[in-house]
Amino acid sequence: MMMEQINESKTYIEEQLSTTKPDIGLILGSGLGILADEIENPKVIPYADIPHFPTSTVSGHKGQLVIGTLQGQHVIAMQGRFHYYEGYSMQQVTFPVRVMKALGVEQLLVTNAAGGINESFNPGDLMLISDHINMMGDNPLIGPNVDELGPRFPDMSQAYSNELMKVAKSCAQEINLNLQEGVYVGNTGPTYETGSEIKLLRTLGGDAVGMSTVPEVIVANHAGMKVLGISCISNMAAGILDQPLSHDEVIETTEKVREDFIKLVKNVIKKMA
Ligand code: HPA
Repeated sequence: MMMEQINESKTYIEEQLSTTKPDIGLILGSGLGILADEIENPKVIPYADIPHFPTSTVSGHKGQLVIGTLQGQHVIAMQGRFHYYEGYSMQQVTFPVRVMKALGVEQLLVTNAAGGINESFNPGDLMLISDHINMMGDNPLIGPNVDELGPRFPDMSQAYSNELMKVAKSCAQEINLNLQEGVYVGNTGPTYETGSEIKLLRTLGGDAVGMSTVPEVIVANHAGMKVLGISCISNMAAGILDQPLSHDEVIETTEKVREDFIKLVKNVIKKMA
């Protein structure tokens, strides 16, 4: 069932492509979809056209795949992702990652907008994700394991590839960008956190918090893909500043850092093997 759906999506996408297969997958978070506009000779495929793909609903998220070249690399980008809080199952949220893997993608770059828990961060900072904490109370791998896709009990000890982290750090240095580093906490949303929840997450070792990424990274690890994660700290998390959080603020900040973000990601992609 699952394999059939993956293969039907894969076949449909391959039929649209005249060029070589993609090697690097990109998942572009809230306000960060602009990166897909940098892709050369793009083939754009709306999610709605792809068999078995869910369709995204949040403003600030487009719903399409953009496939082409970036810095000479063959990439496939998700301009807009699926969120658990939209009501999709964990399997639906992560379905595109499985399709990417079926298409031949071995390295996945995931991005998101996140609230800063670490008080030394500032809105507009970019943070290299060194690890995550799954606080979503669910896991996309619950259920019978599909052995063709990966092992029953996947290792997550290097969920974010050390090798790719090194590449990202050296790229940041090269362009004089102060790249923060830390642990991403995945919550379900759609509510932002309370001040007390943020205090709790800080004592647990979290540096940033968001409502995505964790499911996709779990499935990518299951599939044996190498993952690199970058968060845009779009706001300080609840309770740090004396002001309410809003989605508009998140989008505004991501727009402000778009240049740094594009520069960093392009540089990283150029250096990915
Ligand atoms: N909390 C959760 N998710 C988020 C935040 C936040 O503060 N900012 C952007 N996504």
